[in-house]
Amino acid sequence: MTFISQNEINEIRSSASIVDIISSYIPLSQRGKNYFGVCPFHEDHSPSMSVSDEKQIYKCFSCGATGNVFTFVENYLNVGFAEAVEIVAQKIGISIHIDTSHKKESKFQKEYETMDLALKFYQNNLNTYRGEKALAYLKERNLTLDTVEDFSIGLSLDKDMLYTFLSKKGCEDKMLQDLGLIQLSDTGAYDVFQNRIMFPIHDLEGRVVGFTARCYLTDVTPKYLNTRETYLFKKGNILFNYHRAKEAIRFSKEVIVVEGNMDAIRLYSVGIKNVVALMGTNLTKDQIEALKKLRAKIILMLDNDSAGETATYMVGSTLEENHLPFEVVRLSDAKDPDSYIIEFGVDAILENIKNAISFTDFKLKYLKKDKNLNDANDLTEYIKAVIDSLKNTEDAILKEVTLQKLSSDYNISYAVLKEQLGSSEEKQKKQVIKEEKIEKNKKKSSYDKICEEILFYMMHSPGFIKLYQTQLGIFPTKEHRLIANEILYYYEMNKTICLADFITYAQGTELKSQIMAILENVNEKVLMEEDMLELLERLKKKIKKQEIERLKKELSQEFDEAKKTILAEKILEIKGSVADENY
Ligand code: UTP
Ligand code: MN
Repeated sequence: MTFISQNEINEIRSSASIVDIISSYIPLSQRGKNYFGVCPFHEDHSPSMSVSDEKQIYKCFSCGATGNVFTFVENYLNVGFAEAVEIVAQKIGISIHIDTSHKKESKFQKEYETMDLALKFYQNNLNTYRGEKALAYLKERNLTLDTVEDFSIGLSLDKDMLYTFLSKKGCEDKMLQDLGLIQLSDTGAYDVFQNRIMFPIHDLEGRVVGFTARCYLTDVTPKYLNTRETYLFKKGNILFNYHRAKEAIRFSKEVIVVEGNMDAIRLYSVGIKNVVALMGTNLTKDQIEALKKLRAKIILMLDNDSAGETATYMVGSTLEENHLPFEVVRLSDAKDPDSYIIEFGVDAILENIKNAISFTDFKLKYLKKDKNLNDANDLTEYIKAVIDSLKNTEDAILKEVTLQKLSSDYNISYAVLKEQLGSSEEKQKKQVIKEEKIEKNKKKSSYDKICEEILFYMMHSPGFIKLYQTQLGIFPTKEHRLIANEILYYYEMNKTICLADFITYAQGTELKSQIMAILENVNEKVLMEEDMLELLERLKKKIKKQEIERLKKELSQEFDEAKKTILAEKILEIKGSVADENY
């Protein structure tokens, strides 16, 4: 493995022109000092992203996305930091290679290595005489040896065979239990997975974090046994096959979402590689974020049964609320995509994918389920449900078409339907405003805003760091102080501060999200010393005001006359030092 130092990383960063690199992915045009392009990190058509050649950073005025050349590549290509450095280096003709297994320094290094060892053990079992029946089962299910290899499929054995193997390798009992691989009991340790076909589950970055294990000798429940939640395996953070599919998704700009692991394996093995599987059927926030990052149209292709239909409605609604572009495929005559392909072939499923329908079309059908539309009550309910389901849609034409269709299909006045939609949307709007208000109340105080501005200045030049030290000394609030300390530390180490390099440094800190949030929140502008001084003055005043408030409160609760006098004197003293006398 090649180790690259912070210095080398900074060197690569400063040798690469951010304008050149970004414009190799999206078109940029020059306007004045800066370059502008359509921001790829949110849905947009106008050029709201500005790229500064001088500062070597980018910033989107619309969504706030900001960073240096590495963060751009990371987010645009959806790769890790080390890979982004490698890509940028390659583009400017510097050859470095970073061993993937060490790309992310992790405090769980040992745990990941143990999961890899377990995987190797399972994989190996399949190739011994003990694996004959399992291999026959896999063959029976039309899985080739190539696929077994591609998905690192393996086999768990009796009792405590994994435990014995890992113990010999020096793994501690507690860690093995914490990883969900073994269970410790009074009578000794035993393997959690026994005599099952083992499918490793990788996290979004491709590290093995858990297993899903299918019975194959006899039908037992559960059919699939999954690793329980551990500190590596968080079901809600995972989409099965995500790391393998990323490349193909980037290329096709489409991601097929299926229900079962076997569906994903089947599609992948017949060449439809842009597929991920839900682990369970509800989408979590993290999974939504992971899907968003792909910036691809989603094809939702869940099982054909009624559970799959309900899941399509639930998952579809979540996707719609999060404004992710998607379409729906409902297969017929087969239980799921896996069996569909076995029965009808690849071309048939590709045809279905090509003919994916809109979510609205799906809902028109779905909401009819179990309703007798000849019955007035059922029909009313159905029409209300359809109209209600339109309130999240931004597509005006789609709304219009749906209303027209309802009107003609059920012979109901268009005006009445339109009015119903209007009031449904009105309700929705009120709800949104209410939520926004709550959000606003949570918003930052002016104190926080001033601190953030000061920190923003400090990230830009040593001069501003000195002003902070001489004029303020230290932030009284811990959250701001911690960030200031990071800046001071960086400055100490490097004897200078360059925002584009500081961004790289910040990525490695615990405070990275707060630091990036400051860069997103504070608007780009020309940074002047007198403005910084004014900010510091305003902050000092605020701090004094807060101190006065605190002392006043103390005074009101004090009964000892002598102490009261001291407090009053203190208050007067601070008041006297506040320049503007509005007390
Ligand atoms: P399915 O029963 O549709 O599984 O459950 P499948 O992929 O078609 O599996 P095969 O073809 O019978 O082998 C869909 C998904 O729900 C989860 C698994 O992730 C599965 O892929 N599941 C299902 C469990 O976690 N446990 C179970 O007992 C069953
Ligand atoms: Mn299935």
